Amino acid sequence: MKKIIYLIVYMAIPVSFFTSCKDATENTEPQTETASVEVQKDEDFRPNFHFTPEKNWMNDPNGMFYFNGYFHLFFQHYPDDNVWGPMHWGHAISNDMISWKEQPIAIYPDEKGYIFSGSAVVDKNNTSGFGKNGKTPIVAIFTYHDPKGEKKGDIDYQSQAIAYSLDEGQTWTKYESNPVIENPGIKDFRDPKVTWDGIHQQWIMVLATYEKTLFYTSKDLKNWTRQSDFGEGIGAHGGVWECPDFFPMYVGDTNELKWVLIQSLNPGGYNGGSGTQYFVGDFDGKTFTPVEQMKDLGEKHPYWMDFGKDNYAGVTWANIPEENGRTLFLGWMSNWQYAQKVPTETWRSAMTVARELKLEKLDGKYIISSVPVQELQSYRSKKYKDQNIQIDGLTKIIDSEKIALNSAEIRFEISDLKEKKYQFKLSNSTGEELLFGYDHSDKEFFINRSKAGQVDFSEEFASKISTAPRISTAENLDGTIIIDQTSIELFFDGGKTVMTEIFFPNHPWETLSLQSVDGSFTLNEIEAYQLKFN
Ligand code: FRU
Repeated sequence: MKKIIYLIVYMAIPVSFFTSCKDATENTEPQTETASVEVQKDEDFRPNFHFTPEKNWMNDPNGMFYFNGYFHLFFQHYPDDNVWGPMHWGHAISNDMISWKEQPIAIYPDEKGYIFSGSAVVDKNNTSGFGKNGKTPIVAIFTYHDPKGEKKGDIDYQSQAIAYSLDEGQTWTKYESNPVIENPGIKDFRDPKVTWDGIHQQWIMVLATYEKTLFYTSKDLKNWTRQSDFGEGIGAHGGVWECPDFFPMYVGDTNELKWVLIQSLNPGGYNGGSGTQYFVGDFDGKTFTPVEQMKDLGEKHPYWMDFGKDNYAGVTWANIPEENGRTLFLGWMSNWQYAQKVPTETWRSAMTVARELKLEKLDGKYIISSVPVQELQSYRSKKYKDQNIQIDGLTKIIDSEKIALNSAEIRFEISDLKEKKYQFKLSNSTGEELLFGYDHSDKEFFINRSKAGQVDFSEEFASKISTAPRISTAENLDGTIIIDQTSIELFFDGGKTVMTEIFFPNHPWETLSLQSVDGSFTLNEIEAYQLKFN
């Protein structure tokens, strides 16, 4: 991708500013010389291997399905500005969920309203009757959001509608009898996610309202019956429930089948703002019943898809072939607290790396783990590996000569954990740093981006250190660190605890160090790969 370096000329700024940000306030002597520094901006901030819209605003992933060798990703898009506005469905395709090709806009707003979040299914048996001449219909199910009604102060301005495509998602025809679910008098009533339920031979829709998930079923995607609700008083409720997903999964390698409900909410996320929690349970075709461990789940619980601040509204791909069998997930890599203010102008927001989800049983409890999809590994180029490194104080592990730290996959292992803090540091020579790691004394992971470059565009971006509980009880700690231009994704303990956050350093990261805060330790293994993209 084309990089534009903006040259900013600073007049009469202490020279020390350019060597260490920390020193900037200490050197008060006036300087008259002119210095110049190239700072990263806009296109430099654009990720190498995370999807971003070519231009302007993006939020939630929508309508994700797989068909004929392609993964489709639609997304909430405002093509005319870099902030949220009248919502369209943008579209991108990929054959590996890593390299994306943006397509023309798929669905436009109309007189019934903006096209809010929703899903798409491959209607192989033509249950909808939209198929013609043997062509498989793809059916999109979305929320119409009527801005006129909202302005008037109505409460019934959101309803569910469908559209179909007979050319693999390129062009869409809206159903003439929309909406298919009228608003029953609920203000927040949106984000339909539809899944084929092969067990009960029906389509299931989950829909979010302010404080609960509604379950509907249908035989033809046009006529829907409301069956049940879930969630009032269970789990986190610090904000509005949005963007649910619901699907069956086997537990590990067993034949035990459970149903997973993913439920985003905003605000009320684990570290503030937007976040995505999950529930595991059973489904009889009409009603979802959570497992014992989740029956009385309180506000501050440990069941989150991602504990970092920047993974929201994530959902899974529909129509993954059974022989493949994976549950594949991707989220929006931002947070409503500051998404519209982040320091990029021509484009705004990226998606997370696609992830494979697993449902596991750990000490009798059901948990979801996630790891980057294996397709990412085919982008590995240069490799750097080292073993048994003694970490004493701050120890450099990787520098940009070995692996450029704007496109890297790094795996590490530390055995025999002690009650201490294991802290990684990404830094550049101007003193900017991103700190992350694990504190075994309180069994918490953390990310601290307060000195990671531009932070003051929002009070809520970096004022608090983000934390995450350790779910695993293993004596060894392993992790996969995925770094792109402006994001870090941390998959600890095989993905049992995940943290994703974005950052905007003025200069590229040059060094990855590991720090022993209280006594030395051994880093058993580190394996780093350059991820190569055109
Ligand atoms: C979540 C969300 C959805 C809504 C969409 C509008 O980020 O608020 O609930 O459908 O964004 O763009």
